[in-house]
Amino acid sequence: MKIYLRALIPEDAFISYQWRNDPEVWKYTGRKPDVKVTPIIEKQWLEKVLSNNDEIRFAICINGTNDYIGNIQLLKISDIDAEFHIFIGDKRLWGKGIASSATHKLLKIGFSEYGLKRIYLTVNKNNIAAIKAYKKNGFKKDENFINRFQNSSKFKNQITMSVIREDFEKIAYDKGFQDV
Ligand SMILES: CC(C)(COP(=O)(O)OP(=O)(O)OC[C@H]1O[C@@H](n2cnc3c(N)ncnc32)[C@H](O)[C@@H]1OP(=O)(O)O)[C@@H](O)C(=O)NCCC(=O)NCCS
Repeated sequence: MKIYLRALIPEDAFISYQWRNDPEVWKYTGRKPDVKVTPIIEKQWLEKVLSNNDEIRFAICINGTNDYIGNIQLLKISDIDAEFHIFIGDKRLWGKGIASSATHKLLKIGFSEYGLKRIYLTVNKNNIAAIKAYKKNGFKKDENFINRFQNSSKFKNQITMSVIREDFEKIAYDKGFQDV
């Protein structure tokens, strides 16, 4: 299944609020909404975060139908690095290679358009699908990276992974620089 990324817009909230209320989507993530998220709450939140200038947030969409199925973003963008996040909100589309492909597309943007040297993330060690998608794109477990979550019990099962530009470029080279 082919996908593309487009800029997230406030109106996407009218779809994404449903995913915010699905505990299965947040099972392995640090962010678990504790109140019911309404379309208005989600839209107001999106309007706020879309005005942040150290973030880029994209909607993951299906080629052809243009269905919006998830979010992918780089946060805390500095001159050298950024923090990666992804979720596929439409669970019917899990296990179809979408996270692997979307991750590749966002890393390409981060490294080639933003000139980043390193992209990092935290992931629950039991989130096998996520870890596989990350490893396929060059992410490695990062033992040295001191992350801000490490002392929090809420994040005790989280591991940190990161990918450097050279490793990602090698993977892109091996794929013949073809888009995936
Ligand atoms: C984690 C998540 C992003 C994975 O997305 P996805 O599109 O299903 O992932 P992919 O289809 O690209 O699968 C990646 C790999 O995991 C494998 N996989 C998929 N589901 C799996 C499962 N339940 N158990 C084990 N492996 C699984 C795939 O076969 C693939 O491996 P392969 O390349 O060797 O074939 C998606 O499930 C999701 O959004 N979950 C909720 C939010 C979340 O956890 N986000 C990540 C936070 S760090």
